Amino acid sequence: MKSPTSLLNNVSTLAIVCSQWGDSGKGKFVDLFSDWADVIARGTGGANAGHTIKIGEEIRVFNLLPSGILHDGDGKINVIGSGVAFDPKIACNELEALGREGKRPERLRISHAAHLVLPQHILMDRLRETKKGKLGTTLRGIGPTYVDHQNRIGLCVNDLLNPDILRKKIHENIGPKIETIRGMKRGKELAREIMHQEFLEWGAFWGDVSFFNVSAIVDRCAEHGKLLEPYISDTDSFMRDAERRGKRILLEGSQGILLSADHGTYPQVTSCDCSPEGLAKGVGLRERDVDLTLATMKAFYMTRVGEGPFPTELGGLQSAEHCRKCRSRELEWEMFPDLDMNAENPLLQGIAIRAAGNEYGATTGRLRRIGWLDLPLARYAKTFVGKNVILTKLDVLSPCKTIKICTHHAYFGPLQRVAEKELKRGVMLETAIPHSEVLSSCAPSYEEFDGWMCDIRGARSWRELPPQLKKLVQYVERGAGLKVRALSIGPERSETIVR
Ligand code: IMP
Repeated sequence: MKSPTSLLNNVSTLAIVCSQWGDSGKGKFVDLFSDWADVIARGTGGANAGHTIKIGEEIRVFNLLPSGILHDGDGKINVIGSGVAFDPKIACNELEALGREGKRPERLRISHAAHLVLPQHILMDRLRETKKGKLGTTLRGIGPTYVDHQNRIGLCVNDLLNPDILRKKIHENIGPKIETIRGMKRGKELAREIMHQEFLEWGAFWGDVSFFNVSAIVDRCAEHGKLLEPYISDTDSFMRDAERRGKRILLEGSQGILLSADHGTYPQVTSCDCSPEGLAKGVGLRERDVDLTLATMKAFYMTRVGEGPFPTELGGLQSAEHCRKCRSRELEWEMFPDLDMNAENPLLQGIAIRAAGNEYGATTGRLRRIGWLDLPLARYAKTFVGKNVILTKLDVLSPCKTIKICTHHAYFGPLQRVAEKELKRGVMLETAIPHSEVLSSCAPSYEEFDGWMCDIRGARSWRELPPQLKKLVQYVERGAGLKVRALSIGPERSETIVR
């Protein structure tokens, strides 16, 4: 049995990213490679990401702290980089939860330059999501925080340490938001309703006149600042120094390349760049400092949370609608008690795969939409994340008789120009065009394969895997020009096969 660290010869900076729409099991590998690393750093996203790790019988989900935080006691340094949208309340909650277990991190570093997610950002995110054309965000205030950063009215972690500066900046920051709310139909009413939701502490930050109680926000920030002070530092310099000194650095990506604001299926994306380049930048490094990027990829299905085109979605628009309406695993299981992964109806098949893969949001509990693996999207993703992939969740489809892989997209939309080309109805696309206007008019063309139909979780080497599964892996490698470096056949660390 080969150890995963055998992949890391001559590597001192490793990035783990996702080549899909997130939720492809990065957490397990970040945890696994934490043993190897000296420094584990996040550089993108915020509490929209949920990192699930299984340690023994325990399943832990972190939204903001890096997955490596449980290795703090082993001398590992965890870093939240400057590119992270940092919600101080969530960070404090996660730290307090660890503290209750007697695990007070000693080596955590939080960038003083990371931008803050404050109640006003959560409100603006939620307000936008009440409108037509909503994106299906995680409602965690991520988009408005990154917008404020670019709009030069953002606040950063360092401001938590200086309440007077913080107060001034909050006043500047909420000005345009007040205008927006005033200009919205039923703005005040909606704002009041949202600010009284549990996530916003039942109105603790509501102000009747200007919608925000600035003093309450400042006071709460100052409290957070006290707890976080020991961890706040100049992490960009720290990371550059660690890189120069040849420390082993593990970069933990967030979401997936198809959700990247720069390279994803825009506009249904998150608001940061989830590429290796964005990740490196978000921790103060350059992409060329990364020696190896490993991209996780679910096999042989994909998931997507929230809105946006998904050509291979099982059950198509009906599935998208069902996932929008049905808000929890429990409700879904009540509605569909008889699950059959070989159901002829694709909607039902998708529901059975969702249940088997436990594809319910780690952060929001939302149903993840399910579809077959899409090679045109994998080919597109490769241009950003590279060819080295880790196939994950392979055990999920074990009972599946027939597995489909999408080889091409058939465009069925109206004539449109895409850069220097004209896109006509009937054209077959080998590599996906991520624009929403194109992707939403693409039908998948499939190749069908026999499933392996047996339990694979006991396998410990490539040799021990069933031939049908190996054939599929090789087909994906050839079809998308990828190199499968490891396979995850179950949630346990030991259920990992390195090739
Ligand atoms: P936001 O990041 O909350 O603004 O959400 C924007 C889009 O990204 C929505 O479609 C979300 O469902 C999706 N998204 C954000 N974070 C994650 C994640 O960790 N996994 C999967 N989808 C995510």
